[in-house]
Amino acid sequence: MNSVTHIAPDQDSLCLDLQRGDLVCSQNYINGAWVDPYSKRWYEVSNPATDLAFARVADSGPDDARAATDAAAAAFPDWRARTARERSQMLQSWHGRILENAEDLARLIASEQGKSLAEARGEVAYGASYVEWFAAEALRCNGDILPSLMPGRRQMAMREPVGVVAAITPWNFPLAMIARKIAPALAAGCTVVAKPAEDTPLTALALVKLAAEAGIPAGVINIISASREQTPEAVSSWLQDARVRKITFTGSTAVGKYLARESAGTLKRLSLELGGNAPFIVFADADIDAAVAGLMRGKFRNSGQTCVCPNRVYVQSGVYQRFVEKLQSAVEALRIGPASRSGTDIGPLINARAVAKVDAHVHDAIARGATLVTGGKSVQNEVANGPFYYAPTVLAEASEDMMLCHEETFGPVIPLFRFDTEEEVVARANATAFGLAAYFYTGDPARIWRVAGLLEVGVMGINEGVVASEAAPFGGIKDSGYGREGSQQGLDDYLQTKYMCQGELG
Ligand code: SIN
Repeated sequence: MNSVTHIAPDQDSLCLDLQRGDLVCSQNYINGAWVDPYSKRWYEVSNPATDLAFARVADSGPDDARAATDAAAAAFPDWRARTARERSQMLQSWHGRILENAEDLARLIASEQGKSLAEARGEVAYGASYVEWFAAEALRCNGDILPSLMPGRRQMAMREPVGVVAAITPWNFPLAMIARKIAPALAAGCTVVAKPAEDTPLTALALVKLAAEAGIPAGVINIISASREQTPEAVSSWLQDARVRKITFTGSTAVGKYLARESAGTLKRLSLELGGNAPFIVFADADIDAAVAGLMRGKFRNSGQTCVCPNRVYVQSGVYQRFVEKLQSAVEALRIGPASRSGTDIGPLINARAVAKVDAHVHDAIARGATLVTGGKSVQNEVANGPFYYAPTVLAEASEDMMLCHEETFGPVIPLFRFDTEEEVVARANATAFGLAAYFYTGDPARIWRVAGLLEVGVMGINEGVVASEAAPFGGIKDSGYGREGSQQGLDDYLQTKYMCQGELG
């Protein structure tokens, strides 16, 4: 069964317009072949703009996961033995294929994830940039020659691939997250078993198809899809299997901790890019228009569904009211609608659970004394004609007893907290178990260095609202996880050090 089943095509199912219909894959890709799941079960993929299913994919279980591991383990000796140049060239060729098929990939992303076509195109470029980056980094898996402390000995530290890597990826960036895990793994000489999020498997499957077309050999990348119900069993095969030497995961903190616990028996390496609760601080000496613009870019990217979206916005008392007014006008100008409509700024949320969580946070905040400035409810109208649209929302006078102060809302909601002093706001910003991203706006250079040194996070925007790039190390501290993606450090998680000492050298 290699063809997609269009269960309920509708006007917003953008993937019906692909130039290459064969990029819509429904089977698993294992050992260089597209194969049915052992169970012969399938599940449906829906467009969040309508909640109508438009494709179906394999509902894989542990047997499929094990077959993927068998293939990756068998392919590892050959892949690690290739020259760095060969691996680099194949990654370059994959990068080229991604760019050639960028429009189709963007349509797949928009169809299964819901973000606007403009954002989806941006995501293709963003994901492709990691492949290009790691094609170059593949050439730089350098080790160290160590100064000998004893006569007649030479010492060196080699860096070698860790082995089979399991990549488990989220739905918010169906292309970029899997690209920035597979590309460094391959660059380092590792082979991969992957499982994309159940809501958004199609983009990942298409990406792997392009990797195969780029010449990446059979068994080096293997991918299975699975429904929410089947995922725990399928993934547990990887957690228990000693041949899988590393897990790389982006998603919730609860799942990250589960993966760490359950894989402890085989002492795997883990990279965990987990939840956030990003503070966004606006000091009275900041350029207020720039701060509003930065907040709009950071917060409403992907309808507020990124781990680094500002979750708590602290505004200094002197400029609070002015900030609320400017923000309200900017938010009310956003156009909400489906990806297929040109000019859409903000699409639907991913599913009903996401809408319920956002709405619960808003209602809890209002019940505890927040003032609703704008939004605050689900939207359904002629343009936003589906069940998962939520109005971009601003809440003023937010306080620490509200759910949205402690949990990641993961939706288009901005709570505004008032503060008076720098010392106070730094303490409040750090009063969370999470430590992924933080942002602050100020015109005072001395304050920049003071505050930057005190905020407990892995990623920081200073007078900037969107900061990720392939050249930068992305990742968190505390309950936001560990490991870094992108930059030169992005290879480290896929390499292990072997120290060698040679004696009797006279
Ligand atoms: C994420 O939300 O997990 C990643 C966001 C980014 O790459 O900017």
